[in-house]
Amino acid sequence: MKPDTLTDGIYRVAAKIGNRDLFEGIWPIPHGVMLNAYVVKGSEKNVMIDLVKDWDGAVETVDAELKELGLPNGQLDYLVLNHMEPDHTGAMVSFVEKHPNVEILCSAKAVPLIKHFYKIEKNVRAVKDGEKLDIGGKTLQFFMTPNIHWPETMMTYVEEDGVLFSCDAFGSFGRYDHCFDDQLTKKELDLLKGETERYYANIVSSFSSFVLRGIAKLDGLAIKQVAPSHGVVWRSEPEKIINWYKTLATYMDGPREKEITVVWSSMYGNTGALVPYIVEGAESEGLAVHVLEIPQTHESFVLEKVWRSEGLVIGMPTYEYKMFPPMYHIMDILERSHVKGRKTMRFGSFGWSGGAQKQFDVFSESMKLQCIGVVEYQGSATEEDKRRAFEMAKEMARQIKEA
Ligand code: FEO
Repeated sequence: MKPDTLTDGIYRVAAKIGNRDLFEGIWPIPHGVMLNAYVVKGSEKNVMIDLVKDWDGAVETVDAELKELGLPNGQLDYLVLNHMEPDHTGAMVSFVEKHPNVEILCSAKAVPLIKHFYKIEKNVRAVKDGEKLDIGGKTLQFFMTPNIHWPETMMTYVEEDGVLFSCDAFGSFGRYDHCFDDQLTKKELDLLKGETERYYANIVSSFSSFVLRGIAKLDGLAIKQVAPSHGVVWRSEPEKIINWYKTLATYMDGPREKEITVVWSSMYGNTGALVPYIVEGAESEGLAVHVLEIPQTHESFVLEKVWRSEGLVIGMPTYEYKMFPPMYHIMDILERSHVKGRKTMRFGSFGWSGGAQKQFDVFSESMKLQCIGVVEYQGSATEEDKRRAFEMAKEMARQIKEA
């Protein structure tokens, strides 16, 4: 790849990750992901903003881009680390070897992590919230934005150019042939929509209250470009991604989209038999319904749809007196991601004895789900069970529609 020019003296040095490794070891990235780092050249000093990790040739790619910018080994004066997760710091040891005089600037909370992850203590300096750094014609300002995504996270802003380096915040999954939002093809824009929502739900959703606080903190900055560490640079409409993230963060406590997500699993088809009746009931009120079968669907995609939806339907049979294990895993992921408060119904079959409902009730209470009812039955569903499932889904949809 070639470096992209954001504005005079500010460049993106990025790598497209195209292999099929799981992101964070858990989330599938069928469309890849971008690892974006940036360079700010002042008249006196040169700054690297964030790094990449040794993944699919990313380090070599970024090194080649630095060379193209006239910054091969030793020419960088500062390394700003906005966030310590290894996708942005993994190359740190080799980077410091190549640029031995570089001063590392980070939040106070990042200092011990640098030591623990990379055994580096020399030339590390914690910056304060609001502190400025003059590099000659460009002034960098640091803002502590904890928990977007880890506690040590900060953002860096270039005053003269209005460029915000936001690291994980305002990021997306997916790899793109173009750097800027206004360059994307229709196909890339379609990809960006889904991959921004899935990235948010998978990586950031748990920290939504911090996202809202972080966005409030940025209020008043004359942001002209949002430059995240994943996804594209928002140049034509920087406010679009900020407002989009605000909406996604608001889904935690609501309001959410008037949609219903049905997540279900079945052993022999007796639980699955109710799905068409539930979908028909929900759709009869005109709501969009997402239907995801488990374990065939990865939790990454489940979380994406559940996060945005006001309605949640959970279907699973009892398995050895408890919830069917793949659905237990799904409920665990949803609970960890702070999915809460949805209007919910549950359905499912059991053989000799029930038990799934009891375990589901524990999740339901902890997640403050608003359960409107349960359709549970021994063996196969009767016509009455099917009618009740239809009516319950319809009632849920009606309540969501009229709220
Ligand atoms: Fe992209 Fe939290 O690291």
